[in-house]
Amino acid sequence: MIQMLSVSKRYDDGYYGLRDITFKVGPGKFVFLTGESGAGKSTVLRLIYRVERPTNGTILVDGADTAAAHGGSLTSLRRRIGMVFQDYMLLFDRSVYENVALPLAVRGVGKRTISQEVDKYLDQVGLAGYQRRMCCSLSGGEKQRVALARALIAKPDIILADEPTGNLDLSNGEKIVEVLHDANRQGATVFMATHDLYLVQSTRLPFVRLRGGRKVEEGNF
Ligand SMILES: Nc1ncnc2c1ncn2[C@@H]1O[C@H](COP(=O)(O)OP(=O)(O)OP(=O)(O)O)[C@@H](O)[C@H]1O
Ligand SMILES: [Mg+2]
Repeated sequence: MIQMLSVSKRYDDGYYGLRDITFKVGPGKFVFLTGESGAGKSTVLRLIYRVERPTNGTILVDGADTAAAHGGSLTSLRRRIGMVFQDYMLLFDRSVYENVALPLAVRGVGKRTISQEVDKYLDQVGLAGYQRRMCCSLSGGEKQRVALARALIAKPDIILADEPTGNLDLSNGEKIVEVLHDANRQGATVFMATHDLYLVQSTRLPFVRLRGGRKVEEGNF
């Protein structure tokens, strides 16, 4: 469960990226975060993952205030979340294998299991055979799918996906949404940012819509 309670974010230059946002994403739900470019979608996801801090308001993940998380508790908060950043945040001087393996490697999982899991998740995102490729040489859509495989591999309770279909053609985009649906069916809470209103409307899933940093609509079909 993710809860945002009266959250505002004022950036260092004085600009308010978000104003007084309140909503919740229930456990096991698949919810879209939508709105035009600049509406505040990435800001919301970065606040939940605690790479940004709110100026006002409270963010709870399973009832725990993320503001209180630091050191070990911040690491454990982040380990419960699989984050797909809009700009990927891959280690560009490393191979696809090393990037996708990372969440399991830091948990001390054995090499054989890691290798099997990397193969499985690369296959899911349509990148079978990409293990040895260097991330810096991949196309935008390929990088995006490496970022998704890395977010999914440790089977996080919560998946935050920031425009994970933004650089993909229709067919690959649909495949990626299906991968997220699979993770959701297996119990993960999925919160996906997309500017694609058509996608939001066609799936009839719950959504939160932002405009200019404010919540303007919330739908629960
Ligand atoms: N570090 C920052 N400093 C100042 N303003 C920022 C910063 N990051 C974001 N903003 C501003 O906050 C607003 C919301 O940005 P955000 O990235 O959350 O939008 P978005 O909905 O994700 O847009 P897009 O669909 O283009 O990804 C924008 O006007 C942006 O310029
Ligand atoms: Mg964004």
